[in-house]
Amino acid sequence: MLTLGIETTCDETGIAIVRGTDEILSNEIASQIELHRPYGGVLPELASREHAEIFLPLLDLALKNAKISLDQIDLIAVASGPGLLGPLLVGVTAAKSLSLALNIPFIGVNHLEAHLFAALMGLPKEERYPALGVIVSGGHTQLLLCTSVDTFIPIGDTHDDAMGEAFDKVAKMLGLPYPGGPEIERLAKTGNPDRYTFRPPNMKEYPYSFSLSGVKTKVLYTLYGQDFRGELKPIDDQTKRDISASFQKGVFTDLIEKTLKAANAFNCKTIIFGGGVTSSQTLRTWFDARKGDLTLLWPDRILSLDNGAMIAGLGAHLFSHGHPPSSLTLRPTPRIPFNIK
Ligand code: KG4
Ligand code: ZN
Repeated sequence: MLTLGIETTCDETGIAIVRGTDEILSNEIASQIELHRPYGGVLPELASREHAEIFLPLLDLALKNAKISLDQIDLIAVASGPGLLGPLLVGVTAAKSLSLALNIPFIGVNHLEAHLFAALMGLPKEERYPALGVIVSGGHTQLLLCTSVDTFIPIGDTHDDAMGEAFDKVAKMLGLPYPGGPEIERLAKTGNPDRYTFRPPNMKEYPYSFSLSGVKTKVLYTLYGQDFRGELKPIDDQTKRDISASFQKGVFTDLIEKTLKAANAFNCKTIIFGGGVTSSQTLRTWFDARKGDLTLLWPDRILSLDNGAMIAGLGAHLFSHGHPPSSLTLRPTPRIPFNIK
């Protein structure tokens, strides 16, 4: 079975062809980072237009690199949420149009569930459960108890900013370009992680949840004082490095400790990671140092970004396990719950 995967939830257009559930024949990604950089974040209207413009050339490229023609595709999988409504509409409309034109089924999948599927691609899957799922991206921070490849019980999330979002906002305060995570990781290498304490709080009633807005404000006050009125000033290089190192240390230590505590409490021997923040080599190294006898499954670098292959893989998995195809009335859902059973 050949599945075409379509990803347009945010600022990457992803189109991929996957054989079965795991064999990636092509995985084309058109990033809009440069387009949005001047604004310090993603502009939804601009993102939608760019997805619409790039879609057909990217589809041609994906077919060419997979060495197949459109009429060989058996199934279309599309990320139908969560994400930005305009960008989602482009992908979902394209999936419906292709499904009608080619007379093949299409299936809408949850983008976040696909992030976790990405780490499982190419590996045996069924024997790993219960597993703990960790999704940290620009829009989400979630701990999930995974009871199978496609069933999840949310056990913690963020009460305010998503982790990637917090990195992006702190980077902005430091005058660094978007996206901020990789920039902060780079500067942190030569910074002093102990110069400042930026540790997010533990919340008694929500032991596996996160709150990052307090540390973000603390960074702002550290840089500009409590009477900050919106005017950013130049910051010396050493302070930039030390803030980066201290912020990264505080936030990642919080994530690692809550994740390990949850894995222990829910008797999970495997942790599955997904989302853009998990491309941090620093995070991977620090987790590895503390994993004990846990198995940590990180997505391949290319699969930790938003991409079509993880959408195709999860779509093919669901379809081959009896999940019905979607109907033409499927609406994109900016916020959707996990498949809870
Ligand atoms: O999953 P993703 O590509 O897009 C969303 O669905 O949000 O995640 C992008 C986020 C951005 O906020 C970016 O700053 C963050 O992932 N990120 C990082 C690193 N690389 C990317 N955060 C911290 N450290 C990194 N090395
Ligand atoms: Zn994502």
